[in-house]
This record gives sequence, structure tokens and C-alpha cells, in this order.
Amino acid sequence: MMYATADNLTNERALPKTLHCHQLNEVRLLQPLRPVEFAEDEYPRIEYHRRQQQFWDPIRLALFTLAIVAITGITIGIVTHFVVEDDKSFYYLASFQVTNIKYKENYGIRSSREFIERSHQIERMMSRIFRRSSGVGRFIKSHVIKISPDEQGINILIVLMFRYPSTDSAERIKKKIERTLYQSLKIKQLPLTINIPSFSLTPIDSKKMRNLLNSRCGIRMSSSNIPLPASSSTERIVQGRETAMEGEWPWQASLQLIGAGHQCGATLISNTWLLTAAHCFWKNRDPSKWIATFGTTITPPLIKRSVGKIIIHEEYHRDSNENDIALAQLTTRVEFSNVVQRVCLPDSSMKLPPKTSVFVTGFGSIVDDGPTQNKLRQARVETIGSDVCNRKDVYDGLITPGMLCAGFMEGKIDACKGDSGGPLVYDNRDIWYIVGIVSWGQSCALPNKPGVYTRVTKYRDWITSKTGL
Ligand code: ARG
Repeated sequence: MMYATADNLTNERALPKTLHCHQLNEVRLLQPLRPVEFAEDEYPRIEYHRRQQQFWDPIRLALFTLAIVAITGITIGIVTHFVVEDDKSFYYLASFQVTNIKYKENYGIRSSREFIERSHQIERMMSRIFRRSSGVGRFIKSHVIKISPDEQGINILIVLMFRYPSTDSAERIKKKIERTLYQSLKIKQLPLTINIPSFSLTPIDSKKMRNLLNSRCGIRMSSSNIPLPASSSTERIVQGRETAMEGEWPWQASLQLIGAGHQCGATLISNTWLLTAAHCFWKNRDPSKWIATFGTTITPPLIKRSVGKIIIHEEYHRDSNENDIALAQLTTRVEFSNVVQRVCLPDSSMKLPPKTSVFVTGFGSIVDDGPTQNKLRQARVETIGSDVCNRKDVYDGLITPGMLCAGFMEGKIDACKGDSGGPLVYDNRDIWYIVGIVSWGQSCALPNKPGVYTRVTKYRDWITSKTGL
């Protein structure tokens, strides 16, 4: 059979031979080693150099030494200033009215396009205010928590993060922040009209900040409690086969059949619910035979849970791979932390244009027919329109509205066997949404045969009907 379904869980992810990063470096390093030829008329220049060398002693040498000493001193000074007097993170909860915007019902839904776009605009404005100001130490980022209605317009609740020398006090920094804000409101042309008297700023500790962000979804935290920026993952891609770092994909789970090990990936969407693919349960749909683990390695797992319930889409068709979606409920909840976190479910209206950057993660094999990987891997792929994916030379009409293609037409980077059920995620203002579930593909990473994913937006209401989420 040509297409991967549940019973041939064993045949994918190929990466044709290509130049690896380190090989490219070698090529570059080798270039300066071309044979060097000297022309005879270059010899007299050596004499000249010798005469110049005498010129260095002794005054120049003394001056030179002095300069070195001075530079070293200054460097040490700078280093001490920035490193020894170490910086500390300071968090604030800010609230203010915006008077030139009318409230929209969808601002109440955090995954709605309206909330996302407005929050993004507010966050951009905050970085415009604080980034360029010299008075305020180092602005890290801001994060809109809530947009609520107000008789003047809308009310914004936002977390602001700064880094300051640890010797500074939260109250003193608060003054500086307020001054910077009031100044820029006066001089800068800003898209939103902030009602100054309504502005309030409360220092919060890192625990409160984490609670504010952690009760949310799709946020990745570093061990130092700063949200991980999107770039940290993009830099680390090597031919789509880089091992993920701890906490980078905190919603990833491994679904294992007791006695047979890892079978599929799955994604944490609440403290107890996992989203996965229906075909993962083709061999066995008895929840007592399954466990789920969390963490970046399969052995040892960070957390282990038994599965209490499995819900397979009523209309799943094994032959056409249609409605390849399922839910698994854990018997006991997992607590969210920096390394275990739920992903956001997208609004059913969320649309990704072709060529949108998305990430797929999993413990699947990295070559056709290869073994499961103990360490979690990630790959950046791009969405491919269904019109292209249904072309005769691609999947020839097999892509239904409930499917989403992602990968590259030239192949090379793809999900593979064992990644099934795992997430395809999309980053929006450092908040991650699950847009696809690894479902099928013809072999792995072949040209014109991208990965096919279950289109999550299409099943948003089905998920709600089963879980209440
Ligand atoms: N069916 C496979 C599995 O059970 C996943 C297929 C994904 N294939 C791909 N080329 N993207 O693990």
C-alpha cells in the first residue's frame, strides 16, 4: 500500500543526503589554504618591516603597554558593571484605559483573531515606548492578559517585564517606568490613546507573573522564568532534525502501549486532555493498555500518567485517513510548570496562508523505517495550500477539507513514522497554537510528498463537544 496508515506504523521520514552545516563550514575553512606564491620583488619588503620594528622601542612599547593596561581596565569595569552587579527581572502588572477603541465581543476570547491582533498592537506599542528610552533599564517584553469593556472604550491588563541591576528597588523602577511612559505619551505619535489618570502599575513577583501567564496556554518558559522567544527554536534547526531543548515544546507527550513502548505523539490541551490522531489507536483502543509520558526524553520520562479514556472521532475512516483525530484523558492531572504546559487551541476561524512557518515535533524516526528517537526532535516546515497539495503530481485529490499539508515541495524535511498524533504548531506573538496533528504522508520527506496533518480548526467544535474546552 502506498500511503501510511495505522498498520504500517513503520516506514517513514527520509532525509536524502545533503551537505550538513559542519561540512559547509569545512569547505569555507579550506579556502584560505590555497598554495601561496611569492614574487621575487616581494623580498625587499622584509627588510623594510625589520627597520619598522625597531621603531617600536622603547617609547612606543611603553605607550602600547599603557594602552593595553587602560583597555583591560575599562573592559573589567564594564564587565563588572553588567555582570557582577547582576541584573534581576522585575515584573509589573499594568492596567489602563484606551479611549479610541470600541470593545468587541471577541476581545473576550483569547484565541480570537480580534484579541490576538489588538494584543499584538498593544505589545508593539509598549516596546516602542520602552525600548528607545534611555531612562528605563532593559525592557524585555510585555504580554496582554485581558481586554475588557469600559465606558470610555476598553481596559487593558498587561504584564511588563524588565531587567534592572539587582540593587535597584521595585518602587524606584516603578517611578522610572511611569516617567518614561508619561513622557512618550506626550511626545510620541502612538496609535492608541491611553487615558493617563487610569494608568496603574503594580509590582508583582515571578510567581504571580508565572501564574498570570501559566493559567494561559501556548507559552514557553525558560528556567529563569522568562518566556522563551520564538527565535530560540528557529536558530537551532539543522536540516529539520535538531533535538529540542527542555521546556521548548512543553505540550509534547508520548503515547505508549504498555510492553510495546512509544507508538505516537500527543499534545497536552488541558491538565488532563491530550489531543492525538485516531489511527494511533487502531491496534488497541483499551485505555488501560496505554500510558502517556512528558519531557524531552522517552527514557527517563519526566512525568508518567495512565490513560483513563480514549475518544476516537466517530467518522474516522482508516482507508481515506479522514477525521484522523482522537482525545485521550489522563487518570490524574499534570500540573503545569516551565517544562509541562498546554498548547492553545485555535479559534475555528483561524486561517494560515500558504508558506506560513510552522513547527512539527516528535520522537519519530529520522529515516524511513528507522527507530523511535529517545530525544524529542523538531522541524520547521511550511504550510502548503490544499490546491497545490491536491495536484496530480502531489496527492492527486486525496486532501479533504479536514486535512492540512505542510513541508516542502522539494522534500528533505518532514515528520515520519512515530511522529503521528503529535503537534504541528504555529507561533503568534510568542503564543503557540496547535494547527495540525501528524496524520499521514507517502513515505517521508520525498519531493512532492509533504506531510499531511489533521486540520485542527476544522475540529474545534468537536473538541469542545467532547471535553468542554
Ligand atoms: N503515519 C505515521 C505514523 O503513524 C506518520 C506519518 C507522517 N508522515 C509524513 N511523511 N509526514 O507515525
